[in-house]
Formats: sequence, structure tokens, C-alpha cells
Amino acid sequence: MSPSGFDSGGISLKMGRPVVFLPRCDSTNIEAKILAEASTGPAGILVVTDEQNAGRGRLGRVWESKAGENLLFSLVLVPDVAPPQAPVCVLAWAAAMAEVLGCLVKWPNDLVTEEGQKLGGILAELSTDSSGLRFVVLGVGINVNQTDFSGLPDATSLALLSGEYQDRADLLARLVTAVEAVSTTVKPSLETWRARSHTLGCAVVVGDVRGLATDIREDGALLVDGVAVLTGDVQLVASVDAPSDWG
Ligand code: BTN
Repeated sequence: MSPSGFDSGGISLKMGRPVVFLPRCDSTNIEAKILAEASTGPAGILVVTDEQNAGRGRLGRVWESKAGENLLFSLVLVPDVAPPQAPVCVLAWAAAMAEVLGCLVKWPNDLVTEEGQKLGGILAELSTDSSGLRFVVLGVGINVNQTDFSGLPDATSLALLSGEYQDRADLLARLVTAVEAVSTTVKPSLETWRARSHTLGCAVVVGDVRGLATDIREDGALLVDGVAVLTGDVQLVASVDAPSDWG
């Protein structure tokens, strides 16, 4: 499985629209934000790279990805919703990508296999002004053709799962089309997210909250035994009962 030749012309042709391809950058989210700030119509700006020097993950983490093997992109979207509803749009976009990948979504928007191995992640960054939401930079990293994840036991890739090399440009086109097909003129439905959820119905720990993940609230919060969790990392646990202290 060798990395495909990924270049501006090839991707733009496949996408049928302009794409900013950078062989290497610090973070596509940073590049997309700069372009969006300078644009009067930022919706649809798409920045793609083969390698990031400082890829950013959720909760201040680093996103690492082998050069030329995966998908690393940022898409600018302008949903017609108020800023507090933007996280719901991000959940709906994540679910749309999960449908393309045939995977599940771990709350809030990790793309995972049924066994919970991570195929991809999403870092959404909002830009607001006094009149509301200006745009969202949807940063997406998908493990596509990387097969070595030393030190990351919970990570996997499409190539590892299928045993086949994947065409990154083709996948990019399908993901972007699916995301842009989500209607955001009103707050989007969360039904696809619920249908693709890896989290609901499971015993979980998120920060200091432990219990059964029963649903997501209309603002995108995870409901754990009635407690609304707004941010954090979900860990699946065997039981909702806290382990007894053996001391
Ligand atoms: C996560 O699961 O923590 C989110 C990872 C998001 C990574 C992508 S890669 C493209 C875009 N640019 C970044 O710096 N981060 C996102």
C-alpha cells in the first residue's frame, strides 16, 4: 500500500471545485481560519494537507498522522443557527461522515469502529461576532492508509480494517459531499447520530460523572443518568457502579 499522489489539481478535479492543497502546514484548521477571515463568502473553503507540523486535537491534544497516508482537512461551513446550536451541527456532520465510513460515533464526535477503535477525529472551531455565528472550521483527521500505530493501541485505519489501500481523494469527495448535504438552515436532526452512536446505552465515565449514557440532549450534551455532560472524553466501563475500594 503506497501513498497516493495527492495534489491540488487532482483533488480539485475529483471534488469539482477549488481546493487549497498544502503539501505540509502547521494545521489545516489554522490555514482555513485565515482564509475564512479574509473572505466575504467563506462557506465551502476546503484546505487539505499531507502532513501537519502541529496538528491539533480536541481538549488541547496533538493530532499525529503519518505523512501522505491519511486524510487531514478543514472545511469551512456557515450553518444558519445561533452559536449555542453549532455543537449540534457538528454532531450531525460527524454522523454524516460515519455513514460514509460505515462506522460509529463516540460522543461527541470521534469516529470509531464497533469495538471502539478510533478511525478519525473532528476538531470544530467556531468564529463568532456581535451578530452571531460567522463560520465553523470543521477539522477532520481520518486514518486511511496508515498501518502502523505504535504507541496508539486504540487506533486503526480503513486500510487495516479492509486490507485494501484506499483512494484518499475519492473518500475526501464523499465525506465533504455528505457533510454539506446536512441541512443547517434550522438546527439539524440528531437521529442519524443516535442511530450511529457507540455511546448510548453504555455504562460510561466522563470526568467525574459515572452512569448509563441514555441520550443526547437537544443542545448536544450527553445525558448520563440525567446529568448533562457538555465536554470531556467518554470511557466505557463494565458497570455503572463505582468500583469498591479494596483498601
Ligand atoms: C480529535 O479527535 O482530537 C480531533 C482531531 C482532529 C484532527 C484534524 S486533522 C485536520 C485538522 N487540523 C488540525 O490541526 N486538526 C484537525
